[in-house]
Amino acid sequence: MSPTPMTRTDLSNVQVAKDYTGLCGLVADRIANLVQTKPNAVLGLATGSTPLGVYSALVRRHREEGLDFSRVTCFNLDEYYPMSPKSLHSYRQFMAMNLFDYINCPNWFVPDGLRRSASEIEQDCLEYEARIADAGGIDLQLLGIGRTGHVGFNEPGSAPDSRTRLVTLAEVTRQDAAPSFGGIDNVPRQAVSMGIGTIMDAREIVMMATGAGKAAIVRAAWTEDPTDHIPATWVRRHPNVHLRLDESAASLLLEADA
Ligand code: GLP
Repeated sequence: MSPTPMTRTDLSNVQVAKDYTGLCGLVADRIANLVQTKPNAVLGLATGSTPLGVYSALVRRHREEGLDFSRVTCFNLDEYYPMSPKSLHSYRQFMAMNLFDYINCPNWFVPDGLRRSASEIEQDCLEYEARIADAGGIDLQLLGIGRTGHVGFNEPGSAPDSRTRLVTLAEVTRQDAAPSFGGIDNVPRQAVSMGIGTIMDAREIVMMATGAGKAAIVRAAWTEDPTDHIPATWVRRHPNVHLRLDESAASLLLEADA
């Protein structure tokens, strides 16, 4: 039997910048534009190395152009578990050190990674969801993508209707985090993460990826049928999703489309 012919990928929501600086400029411009048009915007933010340049561009625009975050509310996707909010490995500290210490945004939230009972975690996850809803829902969710195709810490197997919860990290994800933890043995095995359903509720999603190391998973995310095996494939189904890449991250996707 001949293989099913590949349908052309819809690339209308994909934009490719020449390099990482250009990519971060594109994404920072979109966020700045939203904050200017809707001063009480609700942002969903991501960690990892990918959005770092976006955060420094926003800090620069705050300092040089007075971009105002005073009425903005931010919710981060995830936190390692167990993790003290004071630890330098925590995503809370990551966000403080890379963004919130340098802009005027008093309202920002990161899931709590402190060790506690399963029922307390469950309760706190429900409260995180309720807090997002009370803020009016997320206007723009920024996402990176992990090598497993995870978004936030929604590893393969995550259901499209999953909500904020305690999750188990994939080995690949722990290996990727090992250098910053000084070895894999120090990397937590779990995390608290917004679910795919939580992410899909955002009114707009901007997924970004940089570098050749992400080219294969970017192609899979944007060409494979939605599947729990590659959580990012669900994101592509969002009615207002934008994929922003640099040339190296886009290389295999563009090849697939050629
Ligand atoms: C972590 C984060 C994700 C992020 C991913 C990729 O797993 N929880 O939100 O997208 O890392 O990280 P990087 O941007 O460093 O490649």
